[in-house]
Parts: sequence; structure tokens; C-alpha cells
Amino acid sequence: MITAETIEKIKETARIEEVVGDFVHLKKRGSSLIGNCPFHGEKTPSFHVSVNKGIYKCFGCGVAGDSVRFIMEHEKYSYPEALKFLATKYNIEVEETVESKENIELNSARESLYIVSQFAANFFEDQLWNSADGKAIGLSYFKERGFREDIIKKFNLGYSPDVWDALTLEAVKNQHSEEFLEKTGLSIRNDKSKLYDRFRGRVMFPIHNFTGRVIGFGGRTLKTDKNVPKYVNSPDSDIYHKSNVLYGLFHAKKAIRDQDNCYLVEGYADVLAVHQAYIENVVASSGTSLTIEQIKLIARFTQNVTILYDGDAAGIKASLRGLDMILEEGLNVKVVSFPDGDDPDSYMHKVGAGAFKTYVEEQRQDFILYKANILLAEAGKDPIKKAGIIRDIVESIAKIPDNIKASVFIKECSHLLEIEERVLLTELNAIKVAKSKKAAAPQRAATSNFGHPDMPPDDLFAEGGPAMAEPEVTSTAQVSTDILQEQEIVRLLLTFGHELATWEQTDNMYVGSFIIQNLSDVTFENELCRRIVDYYRNELENGQLPTINQFLRSEDQEIANLAITLSTSEYSLSENWLNKHQIYVKDETHNIKSAVLGGLYYLKKHKVDRMLTDLMTQIKEEKDVTNQEILLGRYAQFKNVERSISKFLGSVIVK
Ligand code: CTP
Ligand code: MN
Repeated sequence: MITAETIEKIKETARIEEVVGDFVHLKKRGSSLIGNCPFHGEKTPSFHVSVNKGIYKCFGCGVAGDSVRFIMEHEKYSYPEALKFLATKYNIEVEETVESKENIELNSARESLYIVSQFAANFFEDQLWNSADGKAIGLSYFKERGFREDIIKKFNLGYSPDVWDALTLEAVKNQHSEEFLEKTGLSIRNDKSKLYDRFRGRVMFPIHNFTGRVIGFGGRTLKTDKNVPKYVNSPDSDIYHKSNVLYGLFHAKKAIRDQDNCYLVEGYADVLAVHQAYIENVVASSGTSLTIEQIKLIARFTQNVTILYDGDAAGIKASLRGLDMILEEGLNVKVVSFPDGDDPDSYMHKVGAGAFKTYVEEQRQDFILYKANILLAEAGKDPIKKAGIIRDIVESIAKIPDNIKASVFIKECSHLLEIEERVLLTELNAIKVAKSKKAAAPQRAATSNFGHPDMPPDDLFAEGGPAMAEPEVTSTAQVSTDILQEQEIVRLLLTFGHELATWEQTDNMYVGSFIIQNLSDVTFENELCRRIVDYYRNELENGQLPTINQFLRSEDQEIANLAITLSTSEYSLSENWLNKHQIYVKDETHNIKSAVLGGLYYLKKHKVDRMLTDLMTQIKEEKDVTNQEILLGRYAQFKNVERSISKFLGSVIVK
């Protein structure tokens, strides 16, 4: 574990504008910096960086966080990985605490798997370039296929000698343990308990994870013998999970982001060929059909996928259905198909790099229209087949989460299929209704309604705290008002917690302490708000006054998101008490007292009102007269409380 001191130091040093600025072109606007969001495709900037608060927030897609979170999201690093990345950038020495024995063993076992995999990659690469067989057999094979040396080097291709235990012997000689050779699948134990190499006499493709570490291998045979499997692959291990990996992603990720598009091919050879044509945003699913994890992996970098197909019709038809999965993830899918019999690799070598690039760029078609065309050609004039096609295509369109996009496809398909748009829409809606009935009622997260993604305020990170605005009716209607008020308390805590409660008789009472003290009789219903309040209380009990940064930059992403939303959204949806009473306060800081007292007592009043309603229901349902009297007594008590709160609220309005 990295020590708290080191984490603190990294967070202090890693200035948000510098960290983000390495990846996003930022321009100054008001007190914040803005740029095009690197996490979703956009032409007009909605990605805001607040230098003062040390955070970013995109009003287009909603991502938000601090420097560490940015690196985690952008580079797909874990928390410690991101911290170490920033420590390196700023030359900060990383101190780590001694870990539990199990953790050390687990981490060092994984580390050992990485190390032995890297050793093997170096060994195979060295064999390819320096051994007699490697040069004569492996290297000449790649060259005969037309691959340039820079490509062979870029992908660290290699050669495994055609003997039983070349790698195993060399690894053991270099102090690598047999255990890890076996766990990575590089070596296999035979029934006489002797280790031998999995890869023998093959050209080797090391597989990297997206941070560039070697996690597995594919080895292609050089024989044309049909009985020899064309590829031998590493088995899954603690560091290699086939279904989560895309071949080439490490080399492609920057280009994917820059081009805002990812080309998807089938094989290792195709990735190399496309790179050779100076197209670097390409990955391969490596033979297996595309998995949801792989699609999600692409979606982290771009919303646009272009599939490069080999031109074999049967293969295309078989894979059409699999592509619906990509639509379902909300990605835009395009396809390029190659002339019959060619795959991207053979076509590139046939026509050359330049012509290949032009072809790919010009032949791109939208997937749904492509699918419609293929099926239509197949059905010919047969009306029954054609009806089946319509259903099939509309089913694909129904997978698109974005309704506007879907309606565009309906329009285009209506031309193509020569069917009235209305008919297709009816079909689409029928499918959608059936689907929504199947799915459970959607769970609505309270916080997801905060912030207005469509209209970022001009000067979002203005100092002095957010001003009030009318809550948006459609959103608030779906959120329990209790939650809004609870969030308002959290907002007040975070915004004013460190100010002095000047209206209190006691000196040196902080607003934070005042709020917490006054919450002793309130139970928070929203779990996240409760967590924040409990944390705040805990810190106070330990003699610490929490700062807003602790929340804005919390490791707990839910807490960070809520804190950022509450402190940046000028159009705060919280049912603010001052707002409710139409008291327009230009600068809330001048009115901390009424904001805090109002917020607190408005929440309390709401809880009491709810209790009163509940009690009234109970009274109506109660048959027993004695019980009814007891309930009525309680009702009267609460009514008194409610009255005094209302009166109090009336008195704290400061003009
Ligand atoms: N594959 C595999 N095992 C096989 C065949 C294929 O794992 N027996 C995987 C490999 O990842 C391969 C991909 O499926 O890259 C696509 O197969 P194919 O097109 O046959 O492979 P290429 O890499 O294109 O090989 P080549 O062009 O050298 O024939
Ligand atoms: Mn091929």
C-alpha cells in the first residue's frame, strides 16, 4: 500500500491543469479551463477544469474527478497505478507500507507471471533476430509475407525454436521458477513430470495488456500441414483473460482516441498489415467472437467502431448478429468489406499501403444499412423472406439506446426496403415495449438527476458558491424531495463547513460542527448522504475539520461525484429553502446563517411533516379507541414541533 503521506503529496503536486493538459487542449474561460472531453466524442467543449478546486467535470457525459481519477479513467489504470504514474511524472518518491502476507504473495505471484512473460518475449524476439533458425525460418517467413522490419519490431514478434525445452531451460537457468512457467502456460508438465515448451517452431506474437505489459502469446505454425493447429495460444492465467483482451490495444489506444474510431479485425496478421498501411487505430478480437468486455474496452476510448471484414459472404452473415451487441452498448458501427477471398492482411499486401488506406476510408458503410443490403440481396423478390428481413433489421435498430439515432435508421431503412416509415416504427415500438416489459423496472439513482448535462453554466466554477435557480420540474419530480434536502445539507456542509458560525454565542464554532450537532435527531434516508455525514461527524470527533477537498478528491468515486456535482452545479436541483421561499440571494456567502438554518430546519420540517402524515394514516386505520387517543396525543406533540419549526423558519429569514 502506498502511504497516506505519499498519496497526499502526489495529490498536492499533481496540478489538475497540468495533468489534464497533457491529454486535452485547454482554453481559459472565466475562472475555469475548458476543452473537448477526452471521454466522449464532441465538437464543442463541455469539459471543464477548475484549477482552484483541482477537479474536472464534463457536462456532456458527466465524468468528474481529480487528477488521480483523470489518469485512472484516461489511461485505464488502477488507483495505485495512477498514483505511481503521477509520482513518476512529478519525481515523487513513493513510500509503501508493508503489506499483509497474503497480499504480498498475491501481488508478487502476479508480478512473477508478468516477469516471466516478459522474459519469454525477450527470448523469442532474440531468437528471431539473432539465432540461425530464427533468421532463416522465422524472420524470413515474416518478410516473405511482406511485413516490414519496423512493424516486426514494433510488435516484438519472435520465434520459438523447434526443440522441446529451449525456453524452459533458458528461463530456469535465469532463476525463473517452474511454478510461474507453468502458471503462464509457457511450459507444460508431461506425465513424467518433466517440463517442456508449449511453443515450438512457431512465429510468436506477444500479447500486451493496455499498459504494455506482456500477458500471453499466440504462436503461428510455419507448416502447411492441416493436422497441425495454425495457432497455439497461451491459456488464461491470473494475468491473461482472453475475453478481456484486444490484441494491439496498447499500440492503438492513442490513435483510437485521436481518430475517435477503432478498426476491428480478426487476426494478428491483420493488425500488423493495417499498421503497415499507417493506420494505427486497429485491434483484433483474436479469432474468438467479440465479447461484451472487449466492446466495453473499446468504448472507453471511442464510441465509433469500424469492422474490417474479409469478403467471405458466409462469414459475414454469421457475424452480423454478434454485431448487434456493439449497437447495444451504444456504439456506432461501420463496416468495410473486402473483395471476395481477401482479408485486410491479404488486401493490403495486394494493393499497397496507400491504396489500402484510401479503400478503407472510402468504403466505410453504416452497419445497419450494410446488413439491410446484404439480407435484401439474399431475399431477392421473395415476399416472405423480405418480411423476415424487416423484423431482423428493426431488431438491430431496437438495440440502439439512442432514440434519435434509431429514428434516423428507420428513415433510411424505409427507403432501402421500400416500406413506409410508419410500419417500421410500429414494429420498432412493439419490440421496445416487449423488451421493456422483460427488463425489471429501472432503478433510479438519486444523484443521477443532478447537474444539467445539456447546459453547462458559463462560469461554472465561479467562486463564492453556487447561486440558486429554479429546480427543473421533470427531474425533481422523480426524486424524493427528502433526498434533495439531504443533499442540500451535504452541500452546505461541504461549502460552508469551515466557516465560523458567527450567529452562535460560543466563539470558534464552525458551521460544520453546528450542522452536525443539529443533525443528531435526523436520520438520513439517502445512503450516500448518510455516508458523507457520518464521515464528517467521525472526523470532527477525532478533532479534524474536514475540508471540501477530502470529498471532491475522495477515493470513493460516489462521494467524489456527489461532492463535485453539489459544488459545481450552478443550477443545483436541491430543493433549497431560500429558493422555495423565493428569496433570491446573489451571493449565498453573505447569508450563511439563513442558508444553514433554513436548510437544516427545512429538512427537519419535512421529516416532521412526513411523520404527521404517517400518524394520520395510522389514526384513521386504528379501530381501538385507546390506541387512537395515544396516537392523537403524539400527533398533537409533533404538530407543535412542526409549528415551532415553521415559526423559527419565518424568523431566520435575513433580508
Ligand atoms: N486463431 C486461433 N487459432 C486458430 C486459428 C485462428 O487462435 N487455430 C485466432 C488467431 O488469433 C488469429 C485469428 O484467430 O489471428 C484469425 O484467424 P486467421 O485469420 O486464420 O489468422 P491470421 O492471424 O490472419 O493468420 P494468417 O493470415 O497468418 O493465416
Ligand atoms: Mn489472415
